[in-house]
Amino acid sequence: MSLLSSEIVVEVWWSDPTELEDASRFEAALLHLDDDERARARRLRPPKARAAYVAAHGLLRSMLAQELGKFGLKVAPSAVVIVHDRHGAPHLGSEHDGLVSLAHDLRFSLTHTDGLVACAVVRSRDVGIDAEHVDRGVLVGELAARTLTERERETLEGRDEAGKAAGFLALFTMKEAFTKARGLGLALDMSTIELRREGERLLFADAPDDWHLEMLALGDEHQVALAVERRRGDVLHVVTRRR
Ligand SMILES: CC(C)(COP(=O)(O)OP(=O)(O)OC[C@H]1O[C@@H](n2cnc3c(N)ncnc32)[C@H](O)[C@@H]1OP(=O)(O)O)[C@@H](O)C(=O)NCCC(=O)NCCS
Repeated sequence: MSLLSSEIVVEVWWSDPTELEDASRFEAALLHLDDDERARARRLRPPKARAAYVAAHGLLRSMLAQELGKFGLKVAPSAVVIVHDRHGAPHLGSEHDGLVSLAHDLRFSLTHTDGLVACAVVRSRDVGIDAEHVDRGVLVGELAARTLTERERETLEGRDEAGKAAGFLALFTMKEAFTKARGLGLALDMSTIELRREGERLLFADAPDDWHLEMLALGDEHQVALAVERRRGDVLHVVTRRR
């Protein structure tokens, strides 16, 4: 390894939120959230969405509390301060800053969907994660027209319906992960970025070296995409843990 290389570790935690559909487990899990999140969770009506929200935010808070612990900061998951910027992207509050600006340094992303929640954290690199259930009733034609480039749509042609849906979902989740990594959310027009395949991997057509893009194998029922900013000399390690 060259002297200029940096070891970058991306931690990905994931879990199945289904067990939180049980009322007593749900109430217990709420204790890991802050007051605003608890109120938001209670307002969510569909039990699956409510369970996924609570599981995702609890998971993220546990992960961030562990990361803060690595800097000698003992913080309970519910006491981790998370703020949102004008695009809705979550960041660590500057309350946790000390010698190191952790608010700037610790980057993270979360996703919650039917049957799976996941979050990713890394130091000093932008990161985004997105998950979708494979059975999500995607209207490939309509959504593809809005979110894919012409060349991307061509790569799906000739596939059967299942192949088209799987191919579309991989591109879509990866673009969502990238959107989150950039902190833009809905402000990014997905049809302005192009992905291409190289073997099993997805790359940005314009900047293949600037981002590490990986579809994570977290169970059979979901497509999970991870996008991590990559700088010259980075040696990236993605560690996934089921919680
Ligand atoms: C909010 C968005 C970032 C992802 O939403 P999603 O895939 O529906 O939901 P996920 O569970 O995967 O992610 C939601 C989390 O992303 C995070 N998030 C929200 N805005 C974000 C932003 N600008 N940047 C980074 N992360 C963001 C939040 O933590 C949010 O969780 P929370 O609301 O519980 O706090 C946004 O990109 C979106 O809704 N995209 C849909 C775009 C689309 O459908 N386009 C097709 C028509 S053109």
